[in-house]
Amino acid sequence: MKILVTGGTGYIGSHTVVELINAGHTPVIVDNLSNSNIGVLDGIKSITGESVSFYQVDVTDIQALDKVFSENHDIKGIIHFAASKAVGESVKEPLKYYRNNLVGLMNILECMKKHKVGSLVFSSSCTVYGQPDILPVTENAPIKPALSPYGNTKQICEEIIRDTVASCEGLHAILLRYFNPIGAHPSALIGELPLGVPQNLIPYVTQTAAGIRECLTIFGDDYDTPDGSCIRDYINVTDLAKAHVVSVDRMENGKQESDVEVFNIGTGRGTSVFEIVNMFEKVTGVKLNYKVGHRREGDIEKVWADATIANNTLGWKAEKTMEETLASAWKWQQSLK
Ligand code: UFG
Repeated sequence: MKILVTGGTGYIGSHTVVELINAGHTPVIVDNLSNSNIGVLDGIKSITGESVSFYQVDVTDIQALDKVFSENHDIKGIIHFAASKAVGESVKEPLKYYRNNLVGLMNILECMKKHKVGSLVFSSSCTVYGQPDILPVTENAPIKPALSPYGNTKQICEEIIRDTVASCEGLHAILLRYFNPIGAHPSALIGELPLGVPQNLIPYVTQTAAGIRECLTIFGDDYDTPDGSCIRDYINVTDLAKAHVVSVDRMENGKQESDVEVFNIGTGRGTSVFEIVNMFEKVTGVKLNYKVGHRREGDIEKVWADATIANNTLGWKAEKTMEETLASAWKWQQSLK
C-alpha cells in the first residue's frame, strides 16, 4: 500500500519508513526539513535498498499538501508525525506549536476528506495522562490538564480527530500514545539528530559519553521513587515504528472495533534516570560524567505504560531489550563522528 508519512525524515518517521518498506508498503514522505535533513533518505536507501519519494512540503501549507495528494491518487493511509515537539520551546513559543501542530493536522484531515483517504495513524503521547493516579497507566486513565502548550496540542489533536472522524463516513484513525522513544536503527544508518543542546535524556547521555557535552545533569534525586530519580517507560524506536505498520494494516483490513482506537505504545517497564545511567555505562563500558541537579520544571515523577491492549488487540509487543536499545543509541552517536 502507498502510505503518506508526514515528518518522514524525522526521528520516529524515518524508522517507520524503514519498517513500512520492510513490510512491503510504499511510503511517500512529506517533510519541511525543519528538524531533519535530506541525508536521512540516503540512510533509508542504504538500509532498505529503496529510494523513497520525497516532497519538501510544510503541512501547514494546504495548497502544497493538496498537490501531494493529487499527484498520489493511490494513497491508502497517512501516518502523521510532522509536528513541533520540544516541551520547553512550546512554553516560550506557544503560537508556533498551536499553528504547526493543529493547523498541520487540520490540513491533513481536509486533504483526507477531499481525496477520500480513510486511514490515519496519529502520533500522540503519554503526556496526555499527566501524572497518572494509577500505574501502569491504561488507555482509560483520565486525561489531565496539559503541563505545556506542546502537551495541550496533543490533547486537542486527539479531539480534532475524534470530532472529524465522527462527522465523516469512511474516515477512521488510530491514536498511538507513545511513551519515551529512544535508540536508533541497529545499522546506525539512521537515528535521532537533535538540534543544538539535546533536551531529552538519551541524546544528552550519548553526547556526554562522546565528549560533546561536559556533564549530564540528573534532574532531581528527591522524587518519591526507589532511587529518587524520575521513572519513564523507554521504548525502542524500531519497536515503536512497527506499531505504526500494524496500525495501518489493521485499518486497511477493516479490523477496527471502533472508528477511533487508542493504544499505549510502551514496554510496560519503568526505568529510572539512575538506572539508565548505570545500564549505559555497563553496556558501553564508557564512564559517564554526571551530577545531580534541581528538578526540571514540568517533569512528571513517574509514568509507565500498561500496553496490554496494544499487545492483545494490535498484536504488537516491544521486543528489544534496554541493553540492545542503549547500545544502538551509542553506536549511532559514534557513527556521527
Ligand atoms: N533528564 C535528566 N537530564 C537531562 C534530560 C532528561 O535527568 O539532561 C530526565 C528527565 O528529568 C526525565 C527523564 O530524564 O526524568 C526523561 O526526560 P526526557 O526529556 O528524555 O523525556 P520526557 O519524559 O521529559 O519527555 C517525553 C517526550 C515529550 C513528552 C513527554 C511527556 O520527549 O515529547 O515525555 O511526559 F511530552
